[in-house]
Amino acid sequence: MTRSFDGLTYCVHTFGCQMNKHDSERIAGMLDGLGGSMVETIEEADIVIFVTCCVREAADVRLYGQVSSIKNTPLREGSPLKKRILAVGGCIGQRDGEKLTEQMKHLDVVFGTHNIGALPALLAATIEDGNHHIEVLDSATDFPTNLPITREHSWAAWVPITIGCNNFCSYCIVPYVRGREKSRPIEDIVAEVQAYVNAGVKEVTLLGQNVNSYGRDLYGEPRFAQVLDAIDATGVERIRFATSHPKDLTDEVIEKFGTLKSLMPYLHLPVQSGSNRILDAMNRRYTREHYLELIEKVRKVCPDIALSTDVIVGFPGETEEDFQDTKSLIEQVGYNQVFTFIYSKREGTPAAKIDDPTPREVIQRRFDSLVDVVQNNAYTLNQPEVGKTLPVLVEGVSKRDGFILAGKSPKNQTVHAPIPEGISPESLEGTMVNVHITGAKTWYLSGEIVSEL
Ligand code: SAH
Ligand code: SF4
Ligand code: F3S
Repeated sequence: MTRSFDGLTYCVHTFGCQMNKHDSERIAGMLDGLGGSMVETIEEADIVIFVTCCVREAADVRLYGQVSSIKNTPLREGSPLKKRILAVGGCIGQRDGEKLTEQMKHLDVVFGTHNIGALPALLAATIEDGNHHIEVLDSATDFPTNLPITREHSWAAWVPITIGCNNFCSYCIVPYVRGREKSRPIEDIVAEVQAYVNAGVKEVTLLGQNVNSYGRDLYGEPRFAQVLDAIDATGVERIRFATSHPKDLTDEVIEKFGTLKSLMPYLHLPVQSGSNRILDAMNRRYTREHYLELIEKVRKVCPDIALSTDVIVGFPGETEEDFQDTKSLIEQVGYNQVFTFIYSKREGTPAAKIDDPTPREVIQRRFDSLVDVVQNNAYTLNQPEVGKTLPVLVEGVSKRDGFILAGKSPKNQTVHAPIPEGISPESLEGTMVNVHITGAKTWYLSGEIVSEL
């Protein structure tokens, strides 16, 4: 049995995707279960845990900066420890393992993506003997979903349905740090969601690097559509999912946007590029034409669906013509949101071996010119919402103004509305309210609460 963490405080700093956010909730669940207390800041924490991302270089660099700055932060008064314990996990932990403690001597624990369950024991060992403790496994033996959980919000839950990725897009590090794709048995997923629904959860987000291929390893064929049916049957109000690979998006799944009331009218469908030549070099295994056909089918089933995507600018060898293909696709589809990334070379991936003569300024100019298109689209697509009354799941107060609440519409738009007089913002968190929309900006809608649901 692992030692108790009674009297010890910890904080978890999470970078990267929703999978990491979910893992961090499991880490918190384990430490809380052993008596630890979560705190927000490094100053208050006896144990600091970084759950890291290495999908692009910027995230790597940030970790090194943060870890080295901690050295100068004194331990809180009254801490039972002699020195603060520092742990790094997540995708950088998985990729770099013990190299991390060679580069950052004051690091105590390194763990990977496949063994977050080992963290309490690793922390306990370092508290006992003062040595480094490093454990990184090659693949997962169990799903992190079998660990205790402390969720960030009582009304929403991340639910992994697969872990890992088999797609090996040529630019991407994820398959190397998250391992091969494994699906959870459908009964486990449903049981978890049902328990959440019974406890008052309103929204679940099904997670996987490619949810569309869910079940291929277990049942010999993808069964994502059946998962959606089963989750709908739990009575949950809102279902979302991320992420969806276009090559595996089936008609059966698309149909669900027309038939399941709980499936929110929002689809994130990463396109990465609008050029067939680049899509091929990226090993995406679909064409621009196929992607546009999918969008057409989705809009036929659910005309008012909100769409978002990911785009990489500056993939090695991208020409001006390739870039214009991407730009025209973005204009043609009309996305509510586009996450644009400048290509970042990741050692160990096939694309890292491709030389690229394109000057950095050219790539930056392409990137900047896309951002304009993205913002114009988002603004234009928000305008027809004015005058409608939308059901909004309240998430809390707006970051900029404590008197304004912020929540999400079915299409995942951020909605702001003044908090009615005499009502505390906390009492509205996690509730559904009807908001009459009176204004629409690029990144949010605003309006007045007309009723609670
Ligand atoms: N499995 C998901 C998410 C992967 S990571 C998916 O396939 O959609 C999220 C996004 O990061 C990707 O969609 C891609 O646009 C971007 N990304 C991944 N590797 C990158 C790299 N080396 N450089 C720049 N962006 C990258
Ligand atoms: Fe990376 Fe491609 Fe897998 Fe997404 S589908 S995680 S981009 S390899
Ligand atoms: Fe980053 Fe790992 Fe997610 S590399 S994007 S945290 S799977």
